[in-house]
Amino acid sequence: MAGINCIGILTSGGDAPGMNAAIRAVTRSAIFGGFKVKGIYRGYRGLITGEIQEFKTQNVSNIIQAGGTILKTARCKEFQTPEGRQLAYETLKKEEIDALVVIGGDGSLTGARIFATEFNFPIVGLPGTIDNDLYGTDKTIGYDTDINTIMECVDKIRDTATSHERLFFIEVMGRDAGFLALNGAIATGAEAAIIPEISTEVDQLAELIQSGFRKSKNSSIVLVAESPITGGAMALAERVKNEYPQYDVRVTILGHLQRGGSPTAVDRILASRMGAAAVDALLEDQRNVMIGIRNDEIVYVPFSKAIKNDKPINRELLNTLRRLSI
Ligand code: F6P
Repeated sequence: MAGINCIGILTSGGDAPGMNAAIRAVTRSAIFGGFKVKGIYRGYRGLITGEIQEFKTQNVSNIIQAGGTILKTARCKEFQTPEGRQLAYETLKKEEIDALVVIGGDGSLTGARIFATEFNFPIVGLPGTIDNDLYGTDKTIGYDTDINTIMECVDKIRDTATSHERLFFIEVMGRDAGFLALNGAIATGAEAAIIPEISTEVDQLAELIQSGFRKSKNSSIVLVAESPITGGAMALAERVKNEYPQYDVRVTILGHLQRGGSPTAVDRILASRMGAAAVDALLEDQRNVMIGIRNDEIVYVPFSKAIKNDKPINRELLNTLRRLSI
């Protein structure tokens, strides 16, 4: 592992439960391996402004259970410019940081890839996003906690939906990916999931709901992935209301509550394994890779693949939802 003495860690983009567990795992594995560790605050912005602190093992005590990120996070526009990245590089030199572990989603790893190529700088990425939309890993850090949060919320909404015999459209996050909506729908016994990957016409949706009401159901729940493609829950509900005024329609947008909370055991273990693997990857002279876990095995996924390829939705899940919502 040529010339690496100090590893910098940052979290970037939307926070995700389990990021702290990942910070802890990188810090402790690196110190265990004899490296110095520096925490960089507020994502790439902290690299530009020099908000950096050396981390000892105690700096990451009692954080495995905490949601959010102790390093704070940001979406940094300046890092998207060559001038911003030059400043970031100068900070790294000044701080004597020889390699970076970047924890974040699609946008953050895209930034990492550009920077690593421009300055030939060793970077390993960890997939930290509730969206689960990074190719090459079965799950991203934060996804499991979020799907559990969605499940708890939808279960509660179902109580009132059933009492009032209403049709609810519940919008969940996911940016351009339908993993949260689809798996959330299966986990809550929802009637349908409207996701950007699959087009669903209002007529098809109404038919599904109508057939449910005709049989025995007195309420219905549809999960909608936020996305310009689905149009979001509000727009969909408006269309259904206009065309089918017999339904008593309500909308709930779960929003940012989905990003908070103590990470589940699944996310804590995932983040711990991935964090330790990031240090191993640097020891093995890997660079420009994202750590993934596929079929329970650690894998190194080149940034180019993780970012560029769309992670496909498993069709079997769609069929399962359809079959179980009759
Ligand atoms: O990428 C994570 C995510 O929560 C997306 O699901 C969502 O579209 C976006 O971030 C929201 O971003 P912000 O917190 O900047 O509003």
